[in-house]
Amino acid sequence: MTIIHISAECYPVAKVGGLADVVGALPKYQNSSNVSSQVIMPFYDNKFTKENVFTTIYSNHITLGNNHVDFNVLTLKEKPLDFDVFFIDVPELLFKEYVYSFDDTERFLAFQIAALDWMLTWEKYPDIIHCHDHHTGLIPFMLQESYKYEAFRKIPNVLTIHNAQYQGWFSHIKVGLIPAFNFNHVGILDWGGVINPLAAAIKCAWRVTTVSPSYMEELKLAANGLESLLSAESAKCSGILNGIDTDVWNPETDHYIVKNYTIQTVAEGAEANKQYLCNLFNLDFEKPLFAFIGRLVEEKGSDLFPDTFKVALEKNNLNILLLGSGNNFVEEQLESLKKDYIGTYNAFIGYDEKLSHIIYAGADFLLMPSRVEPCGLNQMYALRYGTIPIVRSIGGLKDTVTDISKENGFGICHDNVSVLEITNAIDRGVDLYQKQSEYKNIQHRIMEIDHSWHVSAQEYINLYKSIN
Ligand code: ADP
Ligand code: GLC
Repeated sequence: MTIIHISAECYPVAKVGGLADVVGALPKYQNSSNVSSQVIMPFYDNKFTKENVFTTIYSNHITLGNNHVDFNVLTLKEKPLDFDVFFIDVPELLFKEYVYSFDDTERFLAFQIAALDWMLTWEKYPDIIHCHDHHTGLIPFMLQESYKYEAFRKIPNVLTIHNAQYQGWFSHIKVGLIPAFNFNHVGILDWGGVINPLAAAIKCAWRVTTVSPSYMEELKLAANGLESLLSAESAKCSGILNGIDTDVWNPETDHYIVKNYTIQTVAEGAEANKQYLCNLFNLDFEKPLFAFIGRLVEEKGSDLFPDTFKVALEKNNLNILLLGSGNNFVEEQLESLKKDYIGTYNAFIGYDEKLSHIIYAGADFLLMPSRVEPCGLNQMYALRYGTIPIVRSIGGLKDTVTDISKENGFGICHDNVSVLEITNAIDRGVDLYQKQSEYKNIQHRIMEIDHSWHVSAQEYINLYKSIN
């Protein structure tokens, strides 16, 4: 069976968040299960593409409205990844430093059309086309409706929703950018008076998955306007929990962290990483270190961080370290907090893959007070590195973290997103840290939890087989 994943992000080529980690790992695990899984993604002007050599394997142009736009298909010449990746190079539109930009409607439409146009030239079509998020959401529609892609009508396709908050909306004025289709069916593109690629994909895909079972249930009640659609389409919808790439996220071999460790050596290993962070960020090694890593957006609860951190830091019994970027106002507040809590608080506003690994290794607790969390990978990385997650029980966090008050519990959970509930959860963490033998016991247990992709990769394969 051959599967083509089509995605805007794929680690290590281009990463904004967890979508990249998933598309960078799932194909590898699928390939080890006797299927052939490959990725098609955009060619960006970023560090990875600058540092690697590519070969052009196909060149042509697409029609985007009234314009002809050139595109090439590239592959990596040397140093292949663990699976085949094909890069769609649209120099005029896609080739930018950042993955996302103001003109994403045109950029990702060009990407999707070029990918399908190129696939039309293949001798053998894939058995499954697997799309990820709204950036590739018009593919299920085009496969079903565009005259040009009639040859693909019978190819089963799957949409995975990593995050339903973002839907790729654009005005009907731009409908002419989509390759010709029976205009009586234009309503399929519409949701709420605009063209909604995610909604169109939910309507047209053969199967729809979310990245955790709880998130699928939650979407039927709150999905940024798509609740009724997801309820109506529920027969073809299911949740498959993400896994993590345990080759990349392994404290024993991770080349980013300052000292590698195993379950047996976690005490010294985690300590060395914590010491490094405390030196680098001027924090107090004797106090527990609570960290946050992620996008500073409302979904992650980041608007509450400045107040929450102030309340927690006033007690002077802990450190807080933040790595993230996003909302400018929140970034400024988090920066200005530094002067008030020198020695116990610090923040790195930006994106830093290496630092994130050291934080997973060196922090004592990882904070994830998300309002919405379709799956969340950070808590699974934290578990693997022996860092106790403090999470709001929602979406994938609910599916992966059990509170310490329950039998075999190993994390700290809270129900709501408020300064009070988050600081209470932090207080529980401080208490736990004081009971070092209990803390260490949990640390050992969480490092043993298996969140690798094996089980979920097979679940996707079972899903493909059910429609193939
Ligand atoms: P989301 O995709 O919603 O941002 P996930 O938990 O699924 O959340 O994945 C986030 C991924 O991005 C993780 O690999 C995390 O370590 C990484 N990440 C997020 N922000 C940063 C940052 N500022 N620096 C480094 N890595 C980051
Ligand atoms: C999205 C979600 C996150 C999930 C990731 C990978 O970015 O916000 O919860 O883990 O996709 O599926």
